[in-house]
Amino acid sequence: MLRSFFIALSTNKSMRAFSERSTIGRTMSSRFVAGMSVEEALSACEQLNREGIAASLDSLGESVATEAEAQKSAAIYFQLLDAIESRKLNANVSVKLTQMGMDFDPALAERIVAGMVERADRANSFVRIDMEGSGFTEATVAMTERLNARWPGRVGTVLQAYLFRTESDAERLIAKGIRIRLCKGAYKEPPEIAFPEKSDVDKNYVKLMERMVTSPVFCGIATHDEAIINALRRFVSAHNVPKSAFEFQMLYGIRRDLQRKLVAEGFGVRVYIPFGTEWYPYFMRRLAERPANVLFLAKNFFKS
Ligand code: FDA
Repeated sequence: MLRSFFIALSTNKSMRAFSERSTIGRTMSSRFVAGMSVEEALSACEQLNREGIAASLDSLGESVATEAEAQKSAAIYFQLLDAIESRKLNANVSVKLTQMGMDFDPALAERIVAGMVERADRANSFVRIDMEGSGFTEATVAMTERLNARWPGRVGTVLQAYLFRTESDAERLIAKGIRIRLCKGAYKEPPEIAFPEKSDVDKNYVKLMERMVTSPVFCGIATHDEAIINALRRFVSAHNVPKSAFEFQMLYGIRRDLQRKLVAEGFGVRVYIPFGTEWYPYFMRRLAERPANVLFLAKNFFKS
């Protein structure tokens, strides 16, 4: 119930406008958001790189309504890719299509993201297209395929273990050598297309993960679920899967202990670093995943 409550809040416009302006909101969100500016995000990235952790930079924002807003969001990504190249960061970028105009002009979104992938190619980096609600799944997978055909290996997307269609999407992308980030899925989806039970999502996650790490395509195992991470540890040692076949991916501020432990064990780890003033929907989805965070954040807020 709380999950649905926070997911509903994530799309509430008045709450969003109020929270993004309030100091309390910004202070609370700083646990999961690396800062408001590009410079703060880059310094979080450098810090992680020093600890042997790669990064994926995400300039927060989604569902823009005009071309000017989309171009403004895109400009930040070009700035990030410039910095990745000039500062030699171990990083790539993660981008949402609705932040680039997908809601009102899919061709515009594709032109913008194509420009980014071209820039990433020159910077020896990579663009990950985040996966949003199921209304965008097919369009996102198809766009990733077209962009990968132009810049092979420089673009990938995300598949969500809660969707029934994911197994066939995974085969479709693997066949084309496209890199996949596997996550459980963060949106509210109906039972006609997604597993309603968490135990079924977890089971499907493990099945997909085993398929991906034994495929010829490098993949990102994006989860903080220690039971799943342990299952993968056991699977790779039983099946002689090299650690170079995949990396673990986690969100900024979540399970930092586990991130460091995995690095110490020789696994690749990448942290997704969100930043920017439009942190509200992202933050609400993190609370939805673990409502206990509300208590945790409130306690720390009143302590400081
Ligand atoms: P689960 O939710 O079962 O949590 C397992 C454990 O992890 C919890 O018991 C807790 O210990 C810890 N944990 C999880 N979430 C936490 C939180 N918010 N705060 C504190 N602890 C927490 N989704 C999507 O739909 N599209 C996308 O493109 C992406 N991209 C993405 C990138 C990366 C790098 C990650 C790690 C995740 C995503 N996600 C995503 C989000 C994903 O779908 C999912 O909602 C979250 O990762 C939470 O699921 P877990 O796999 O961590 O498991």
